Amino acid sequence: MNSSDLVPVGTVDELAPGQRKRALIKGRSVVLFNIGGTIHAIDDSCPHQGASVANGHLNGCVLSCPAHGLRFDVRTGCMPGAGGLSLTTFPVRTIDGKLFVSLEDPAASAAQASVCNAAP
Ligand code: FES
Repeated sequence: MNSSDLVPVGTVDELAPGQRKRALIKGRSVVLFNIGGTIHAIDDSCPHQGASVANGHLNGCVLSCPAHGLRFDVRTGCMPGAGGLSLTTFPVRTIDGKLFVSLEDPAASAAQASVCNAAP
């Protein structure tokens, strides 16, 4: 991740474990989740039909799309136990208590694809 790709989205203190928030980054809606102290960022657009997933029910690391109920692991974007659709995830970095998201990270995207393909 190049530092020039990093977009500030707030501070770590704003997002306690179990909380989420939406951020607009370069015109794109992104949702950040604090799950057990780790921040994850996903695209706020379901890969099924594009519904917002920001208010979906979260069970552990698995987010349910409010529109039709498809479920995605917010850590990988993958559907648990199945291949197929994949939610876009973005790398998150914490620097001096501030949160940054990168929308451009081909290496992370390739790694994500292999994670999804490896799922049973
Ligand atoms: S739009 Fe998300 S499951 Fe259909």
